[in-house]
Amino acid sequence: MKECVVVDGVRSANVRAHKDKGWFRHVRPDQVLIEVYKALFKRNPKVKPEEVEAVFCGSANQAGMQNDIARIAWLAGGFPECVASNGINQQCPSGMSATEHAARAIMCGEGDIYIASGVEDMEKVPMMFAMDITPKLLDRYNMMDLPMGNTAEKVAELWKVSRRDAEVMAYWSNKKAAAARDAGKFDNEIVPIEGEQEDGTKFMVKTDQWIRDNVSLEEMATMKTPFKEGGVVSAAVSSPLTAGAAALLLMSRDKADELGLSYHIKYAGGAMAGCDPTVMGVGPIYAAQKLLKRTGLTVKDIGVWELNEAFGSQALACLRELGIAQNAPFDNVNVWGGALALGHPLGESGCRIIVTLNNIMKTDFKDAKYGVAMLCGGFGNGNASLWQRVDQ
Ligand SMILES: CC(C)(COP(=O)(O)OP(=O)(O)OC[C@H]1O[C@@H](n2cnc3c(N)ncnc32)[C@H](O)[C@@H]1OP(=O)(O)O)[C@@H](O)C(=O)NCCC(=O)NCCS
Repeated sequence: MKECVVVDGVRSANVRAHKDKGWFRHVRPDQVLIEVYKALFKRNPKVKPEEVEAVFCGSANQAGMQNDIARIAWLAGGFPECVASNGINQQCPSGMSATEHAARAIMCGEGDIYIASGVEDMEKVPMMFAMDITPKLLDRYNMMDLPMGNTAEKVAELWKVSRRDAEVMAYWSNKKAAAARDAGKFDNEIVPIEGEQEDGTKFMVKTDQWIRDNVSLEEMATMKTPFKEGGVVSAAVSSPLTAGAAALLLMSRDKADELGLSYHIKYAGGAMAGCDPTVMGVGPIYAAQKLLKRTGLTVKDIGVWELNEAFGSQALACLRELGIAQNAPFDNVNVWGGALALGHPLGESGCRIIVTLNNIMKTDFKDAKYGVAMLCGGFGNGNASLWQRVDQ
């Protein structure tokens, strides 16, 4: 089997998905994706778009502006018609699933160069947009147990995650994200794209909009819990509504060597696991357990983790049950902040956390032999992927 390496990864800033406050409120998600693709080719002039075998693009709500966005953005961006594009939907893990499809195709020898991407604008295409759920699903599950926030409350109850612990996690997520931003850690991954401030002033968006510099535990403790009276889950411990796009340039190791391109990590396997949709947030527990068992590794072998923080409760439940950590701040988890601070544009995040993991392993965690990225997905999916150091 061939090896699949990450040659490069880029993303847009993650911005608020809000019709009045979002910095990309007048930029369509397909345009954000196009800008990210253009940056990938500009940074890698040895790779011509027509040499790409196919583009896999994850998006969780493939309707409206995101209907077949994989193909439409590629064509609208002026990229060659001869390159195939394939939309992937696995709810929140869509961008990771797209990456794994591309990596597996490379390993099977179906092609040498692939782009894997993810995109979502949760304002222009809201969650559940145009969705028509069969009543048969509702024979099996109570409709009130399925919305994401409600599942986060149930996980908090069953896995005994307190509101305070989730808020401490959100606090550190914001602190780490702000520190990473200020230290320029994201400069290598964020592609500046023109957007506008709340007052309409145009500017190049280079930083993530949701990071709260003045995050306060006292203020968080006073916030409403919209999903349950007296519950645990407030807006502060939920990933906020976000827009953004990310893309990875994946290549067979042979091809990267032939072109003289450098790389740091290779795909070392992935695992998906299904779980009860009413506690969908714990999906990464089962996915990571499968992944570790199959690869013969233990939690201690993994030097650095990227776990998508859909909600503080589910992220803590995953970290505790896997034996990775008990409470924030964590040494080697979401070291540049997580989705509670950076936002979570659903289909983008699975690709974004691999882009970030690659940069973390390249810089702050040069000794980590393995990194794992993982996410939960609506209706009960977990996805985890393993990345191994192969510096070249
Ligand atoms: C929790 C949720 C319902 C809140 O939505 P909302 O009420 O529309 O509110 P917004 O996210 O727009 O904003 C919440 C407000 O709280 C504020 N807020 C967030 N965190 C805060 C904190 N730590 N301290 C103080 N204020 C905070 C925001 O700034 C915003 O106020 P502003 O508009 O004045 O800036 C929404 O973010 C949500 O559904 N998140 C989960 C998304 C999801 O399910 N994703 C999939 C996961 S699997």
